[in-house]
Amino acid sequence: MTESAVSADHVFQDADALIVYASKHGHTAKIVTRLAEAMRGEGLEVDLREVGQAGEAKPGRYDLVVVAGSLHQEHHQKDIVRWVSERRETLGDVASVFISVSLSAADDSEESQSGMRRCIDAFVEETGWTPGRIEPIAGALQYREYDFVTRQVMRMLMKKMGHPTDASHDYDYTDWDGVDRLGRELAQETKGRQGAPAGA
Ligand SMILES: Cc1cc2nc3c(=O)[nH]c(=O)nc-3n(C[C@H](O)[C@H](O)[C@H](O)COP(=O)(O)O)c2cc1C
Repeated sequence: MTESAVSADHVFQDADALIVYASKHGHTAKIVTRLAEAMRGEGLEVDLREVGQAGEAKPGRYDLVVVAGSLHQEHHQKDIVRWVSERRETLGDVASVFISVSLSAADDSEESQSGMRRCIDAFVEETGWTPGRIEPIAGALQYREYDFVTRQVMRMLMKKMGHPTDASHDYDYTDWDGVDRLGRELAQETKGRQGAPAGA
C-alpha cells in the first residue's frame, strides 16, 4: 500500500462509531459508557474517547459520530467546543448526534427547557456544527463529587430551584432505560445505513 493511501481518511475505518465526550464530574462519562454498551450489544464496534484522548480521531472514518458534553454555568466544556469547531466540516458530512447533559433537562418547566435550548443553540453557533440529531439528557447532582465551594453554591442554587439540598447524597436524574434505547436505535440506524447501497 502506498504512503498516500495509508494516510487517506477513507482507506481505514477504525470502528463503526466514534463517541467523544467531556465530563467534569464523571456523569457524562457514565452515560456515554452505557450508550456504547447498548450500541455494542447490537453488534456495532464503538470507539469511545474522552476528548483529551480524541485529538487523533478522524470523524470521517466512522459511520456515526456522537459528541457529548455537560452544562456548567450555562456552557458546554471548552474542550468539546474546540474539538468540534476544529472538525466542523468533516462532522457535517457524517451521521452525527450531540448529547447535552444537564440538570435543566431534568426539569420540565418552560424556564429550564428554554434555558437549556439557548445553551445548545449557543454550542451550535459557537462550533459552526449542526448535529444531525440533538439529545438533551438529564444528568445528576453529585454533591459528594464537588469541592466545598461548589457544594455550597450548588446547594444554594438547588434550594432556589426546589431541588434537593441534602449534600450527603447524590441525585441521579438520568433515564437509563432511555439511554439504552437511544444506543440501540443509533446502532440499528447505523447498521441500516451500512447495509444501504452507496448514495442511498
Ligand atoms: C458548578 C456546576 C454548574 C452547573 N451549571 C449548570 C447549568 O448552567 N445548567 C444546567 O442545566 N446544569 C448545570 N449543572 C448540572 C450539570 O450539568 C450536571 O450535574 C451534569 O450531570 C454534570 O455532568 P458531568 O459530571 O459529566 O460534568 C451544573 C453543575 C455544576 C456542578
